[in-house]
Amino acid sequence: MKMRKLIAGNWKMNGLIAQLDDVEEIASKIAIYPEVDTALCIPSTLIRPAAGRFPEMAIGGQDCHMASSGAHTGCISAIMLADAGARLTIVGHSERRAAQGESDADVCAKALAARSADLSAIVCVGETEAERDAGQAEAVVLGQLAGSLPDEATSEWVSIAYEPVWAIGTGRIPSIEDVAAMHGAIRNALTSRFGTDGAAIRILYGGSMNGDNAKSLLAVANVDGGLIGGASLKADKFLPIVEAAA
Ligand code: G3P
Repeated sequence: MKMRKLIAGNWKMNGLIAQLDDVEEIASKIAIYPEVDTALCIPSTLIRPAAGRFPEMAIGGQDCHMASSGAHTGCISAIMLADAGARLTIVGHSERRAAQGESDADVCAKALAARSADLSAIVCVGETEAERDAGQAEAVVLGQLAGSLPDEATSEWVSIAYEPVWAIGTGRIPSIEDVAAMHGAIRNALTSRFGTDGAAIRILYGGSMNGDNAKSLLAVANVDGGLIGGASLKADKFLPIVEAAA
């Protein structure tokens, strides 16, 4: 059976209320591509207004705390995201692993917190340029995957995003052969650990995906969608990627 592709945007720390006009354009056009799942992971401040205004659009968060409530100033829990109308959340993005020092165990706990709140989770993994240059890319990514995915992961609520750190926001992407090799290695790890359901867990590619390169990236075996940063901020940049996935 052909897997439905997922094209998810990650706005990162960008977006004020006025930018919901771009969501409006995206939401009004996604029905043209019913075979593609789309989502936008936006700042927490915009989740409630976006989810209320665009019920047809899957709106998500970009992180959640592993606890459901408590003395964690400035943090947001998965239950709060869900309460605001989110249907999913990203966990373990490399920017958080680097800047907030999130470990694989933290990411795993956050994924479980998302599940407890009935959210889907996009679990991010990816090597730095130094790790790739040292020939360690696959070992690093498979290590992150093993530590970040809970045993309870299923294709129903988990997707993986492979995002080489050096490709994020740089305009550089790995060769098609390297993408195929990494996604194949991730697939093998998923099926070894989760059996047949591991074959149904979506593996997204992220890092400088745009309207020009999306078609070729999305045609690679085991690339089941994309996690899009910069190009998800504007409807005219995001929609061509959704079209490429159709
Ligand atoms: O999570 C998406 C991301 O890190 C990729 O960003 O701007 O390279 O598409 P970008």
